Amino acid sequence: MNRIYLDNAATTHIDQEVIDIMVDVMQTHYGNPSSIHTEGRKARALIEVARKSVANALNASISEIYFTSGGTESNNTALKCAVRDLNIKRIISTKFEHHCVSHSLSHIQRHQGIEVVLLDNCEKGNIDLAQLEESLASGNTKTLVSIMHANNEIGTISDMKAIGELCRQYNAIYHSDTVQTIGHLPIDVSQLNIHFLSGAAHKIHGPKGTGFLYINSDNLIEPFIDGGSQEKNMRGGTENLHGIVGMAKSLELAYQHMDERKTYITELKNYFIEQLKNNIPNIDFNGEIGENSLYTVLNVAFPEHPKNEMLLMNLDINGISASGGSACTSGAEKGSHVIAALNKDTFRKAVRFSFSHHNTFEEIDYVMQKLKMIYGIEVPA
Ligand SMILES: Cc1ncc(COP(=O)(O)O)c(C=O)c1O
Repeated sequence: MNRIYLDNAATTHIDQEVIDIMVDVMQTHYGNPSSIHTEGRKARALIEVARKSVANALNASISEIYFTSGGTESNNTALKCAVRDLNIKRIISTKFEHHCVSHSLSHIQRHQGIEVVLLDNCEKGNIDLAQLEESLASGNTKTLVSIMHANNEIGTISDMKAIGELCRQYNAIYHSDTVQTIGHLPIDVSQLNIHFLSGAAHKIHGPKGTGFLYINSDNLIEPFIDGGSQEKNMRGGTENLHGIVGMAKSLELAYQHMDERKTYITELKNYFIEQLKNNIPNIDFNGEIGENSLYTVLNVAFPEHPKNEMLLMNLDINGISASGGSACTSGAEKGSHVIAALNKDTFRKAVRFSFSHHNTFEEIDYVMQKLKMIYGIEVPA
C-alpha cells in the first residue's frame, strides 16, 4: 500500500489542475506585474483575475483582498498593523490560537505595552461567549478581538457570526484566522461583522507560501512590508504570480467541490471515530467531534500506554503520516499549547489525524489494523 497521508491540516498535496496552471504561468507569464509593457500587463491581469476570484469566494469586494506569503504573514499584518494604525490598546484572544497569532500577541504585549486578555476555553475548546462579552464590556479602550475560526489541532469551530455581533455591539475590531476553514466551509464576509480575515492556499491543495488577507475597507492600515507600491501600496515586493494564480485555482476547485468533499470526509471521519471507539478501550478525543468540529480534523486522545511515546514514529514506519501534540510535562518533548489549554488528562497521547478527499475507507481500515497491532489489541482470527 502507498503511504497514507493523514496530516492534511499541516499541508495538502497540490491538485494537478493547480500544478498545471502554475506551470503554465511560470512558463509563459514571466512579466513583472508592475511593468507597463505587454508582458507586465498580462501578469497584472492574471493577478487581478485571481483577486476577483478570491473576493467572489468570500463575497468581499475586490479592493478588500491583499495577497501575502501565507497565513503567518496575514495574521502578523492584521494584528501588528491594527495596533499600530487603528489605536488598539487591548486585544482579546484565546489560549489556543496558532503560534503566528499567539507569538505576535506576546510581541505586541512586550514591545508595545498592549493589554492582552486570553479567554479561558471550555473543555472542548469552545469560546465562552458570555465571558467574551464580559471582557468586552469591562474595558473602555479600543479593543481588537482575535479568535480563529477552526482550531488547527482539535478542529473546534468558533461562531463567527456571534463573535462579530459582540464586536459590533462593543465597537471592537474583529480578526479571525480562517487558515483551516477557507475552502472547507463557506464564509460570507458581507454577513459577518469582520474586519480582518486570513487565509492560505496550502491547506486546500494549493501552493505553499501564498495567502491573502481580507481587510474590511473601513479599517485601512499601513503596509506591514514596506517597498514598492504593489498590492495597492499595502505590501511591497514583486508578487508571487504563479502562487497567486495557483491559490485562486485551488480555492475555485475547493468551492466547486465543497459539498461533496464535506459529505465524503465527514463520513470518513465518523467511520474512523466509530472504529476507534469499537476497538480501542477507553479512547477519548480532544475538542469537539460532532457538529461544532471541522470535518477535516480529528484529535485522538489515546489512553496511557507504554507504546505512546513512540506512537507517531511507529505509525510513520508503518506508512502512516499523522501529527502529534500532547500536554507533556516531562520537559523532554515540548507539548502542544492547545492540548495543555484544554486541561485534560495529561497522561493521554494526543494524535491529530487530518483528512482530505483523497483519503479512503480502506486507508482508515489499515490505520486501525496498525493501531491495534501497535497497542497489542487482539484481532479476531
Ligand atoms: C490555523 C493556522 N493559522 C495559521 C497558519 C500559518 O499559515 P502559513 O503556513 O500559510 O503561514 C496555519 C498553518 O499551519 C494554521 O493552521
